[in-house]
Amino acid sequence: MANWVEGRVIRLRQWTDELYSIQVDAQVAAFTAGQFTRLALEIDGEMVARPYSFVNGPDNPVHEFYFITVRDGPLTHELVKLKPGDAIHLAPKGAGFFILDEVPQADCLWMLSTGTALGPFLSILTTDAAWQRYRKIVLVHAVRTASELAYRDEIKALLERYPDRLQFIPFVSREDTDFAIKARVPAAIEDGQLEQRTGIAINTADSQVMICGNPDMVRDTVAVLETRGLKKNRRRDPGHITTEQYWKS
Ligand SMILES: Cc1cc2nc3c(=O)[nH]c(=O)nc-3n(C[C@H](O)[C@H](O)[C@H](O)COP(=O)(O)OP(=O)(O)OC[C@H]3O[C@@H](n4cnc5c(N)ncnc54)[C@H](O)[C@@H]3O)c2cc1C
Ligand SMILES: NC(=O)c1ccc[n+]([C@@H]2O[C@H](COP(=O)([O-])OP(=O)(O)OC[C@H]3O[C@@H](n4cnc5c(N)ncnc54)[C@H](OP(=O)(O)O)[C@@H]3O)[C@@H](O)[C@H]2O)c1
Repeated sequence: MANWVEGRVIRLRQWTDELYSIQVDAQVAAFTAGQFTRLALEIDGEMVARPYSFVNGPDNPVHEFYFITVRDGPLTHELVKLKPGDAIHLAPKGAGFFILDEVPQADCLWMLSTGTALGPFLSILTTDAAWQRYRKIVLVHAVRTASELAYRDEIKALLERYPDRLQFIPFVSREDTDFAIKARVPAAIEDGQLEQRTGIAINTADSQVMICGNPDMVRDTVAVLETRGLKKNRRRDPGHITTEQYWKS
């Protein structure tokens, strides 16, 4: 299989000064919701590639990726310069194990994200499997400021479609709002705020927890969940926690 598939940019959508989504038309192989691909651009004669989670569901042929421009980040500062019709390279197939096939059955699936790591959860929420396997799903999006709560319309549409089954809990850590929890996710689990807000308990009998994004949030949340008896999912030793980190801390 070729190293790269050439795709074409359809649109770049800007959410804030730093947050963008890019839509791409590319003939990549079927992927599973929750997986990532690699996006690559030739920069100064070298192919620079980074992993990005699919935001679109596997049935949607328009591939979408949600990203933040990071300071001195070599790829993201080139991605934001792209215009409709420009070429972009993608890995030919999806990769990764942050998928429902790796997550055991439970009553409630918790999806905990920071920043751009909302993306894979939006992809998973488009699938029938998510709704066939879990009676309740709680989607948490933790950001610094309210303006970073992207994809609100898409989340609203999901809430309207699954009113009794989906809860969306925004966390805004650096601003006062009248709707979001002002805390970090592990602290809000530790002090019971998240369960109080949802009315759903996190426990070994009823819960599966997927955690994605900032590696410190992933680490700290796993540690809090472990004090409740939840443990990491391993293929040969199923547990309750499935994680993906977007960078190394
Ligand atoms: C499995 C996987 C999936 C990923 N999916 C996404 C995605 O869907 N969207 C996305 O924006 N990034 C995602 N990333 C991170 C992405 O691959 C790049 O690292 C990021 O876009 C920055 O690229 P860069 O070349 O500009 O800088 P890099 O040199 O790659 O990163 C520089 C630094 O920026 C910080 N950083 C990197 N990514 C993020 C981020 N997402 N949010 C906050 N800080 C960050 C870290 O401190 C990192 O060390 C994913 C990473 C992995 C491993
Ligand atoms: N977002 C911005 O306005 C902004 C501006 C300039 C540069 N950047 C850079 O962009 C990168 C990403 O920023 P981001 O805002 O997308 O992501 P982020 O720093 O991962 O923050 C997202 C959310 O995760 C929380 N968080 C951080 N560490 C945590 C931990 N150990 N446990 C639990 N929660 C934790 C943050 O809370 P806290 O607020 O309490 O940290 C925030 O609510 C960073 O490298 C940052 O320096 C961001």
